[in-house]
Amino acid sequence: MVTSGGDAPGMNAAIRGITRIAHSKNFEVVGFERGWNGLLTNSFRWLTPRSVGGILHLGGTILHTSRCPEFKKNEAIKKAAETLALNNIDGLIVIGGNGSFQGALELSKETGTSIVGVPASIDNDVFGTDETIGFDTAVNTAVSEIDKIRDTAFSLERIFIVEVMGRTRGFLALAVGVTVGSEMILIPEVKYENERIFKTIRESEERGKKSAIIVAAEGIGDTRKLGNEIEKATGTEVRLTVLGYTQRGGNPSARSRLLACLFADKAVELISERHKSSLVVLQNGEIKSMRLEESCKTDKPIDLSLLGLAKILAT
Ligand code: ADP
Ligand code: F6P
Repeated sequence: MVTSGGDAPGMNAAIRGITRIAHSKNFEVVGFERGWNGLLTNSFRWLTPRSVGGILHLGGTILHTSRCPEFKKNEAIKKAAETLALNNIDGLIVIGGNGSFQGALELSKETGTSIVGVPASIDNDVFGTDETIGFDTAVNTAVSEIDKIRDTAFSLERIFIVEVMGRTRGFLALAVGVTVGSEMILIPEVKYENERIFKTIRESEERGKKSAIIVAAEGIGDTRKLGNEIEKATGTEVRLTVLGYTQRGGNPSARSRLLACLFADKAVELISERHKSSLVVLQNGEIKSMRLEESCKTDKPIDLSLLGLAKILAT
């Protein structure tokens, strides 16, 4: 297996699950180190049921991970395919996000090794799965931080913009925004004119609200500039908190761990069945698989009706 791209809480739970389930089916297991770099340098360690003990509850990944820009080049893909052949690897489980799966798909074209993707990313932006490992943890982390910020927003009657991660997508912001009861949620999928944002805040003030939390996805652009503009337009003090990497780390929630265990089980099953290239997914509460290619070529749709719900809940 390999963990690749951004780390996500629950990756270790997946490493543990895959190792123990694979061993129970008499597979030997290795973990390539530092993402795709491990396949370029043939750097791996043997994983056994004992060596993956004590990691279930830990964030990050014991195998380390990396962004590996050179993997986008065909020579690198060829090198990785050679590494798989050199070590007689029957199946490769790639634990990561969209970028990692693009790499996995390219690699599957150069190798006979069966490749299975396990979605793990705090962004929850992988097409075909309702949830990725780590998303629930990141939502909970952001929610508990924003609950604290609300104390100051209330006491000093301020507006807070809280910027959450999510890269170019708004899945994290949407889930966080609804569950903290934010007055407004800004996501890249919906373009708002500044005037509309000012109007929403003014209307909230007219309804008697003296403070506001605006949850903004990092993908919307410059939140500091936006804060200054809101302050100017409304006359209310605005503060910005960028939650940043706190959302990526920490102990995985029970839900992220459970998803990791269930995905691990399905991933090993797919490797046993020698699927060429597939992705493990959660759909309507069921663990299933789909073609890796189908996930890679499609953007995950976002449920914009949640914005309407959040608006009503904020009245
Ligand atoms: P994530 O998997 O979390 O989305 P990245 O977008 O950084 O993280 O992708 C992880 C890695 O996958 C990249 O650093 C790169 O090595 C590889 N990768 C991304 N896109 C491609 C691509 N189109 N072809 C080959 N490899 C890719
Ligand atoms: O994909 C996970 C993520 O945390 C995104 O939300 C964020 O935009 C990006 O990774 C940050 O990447 P890096 O760790 O390379 O700065």
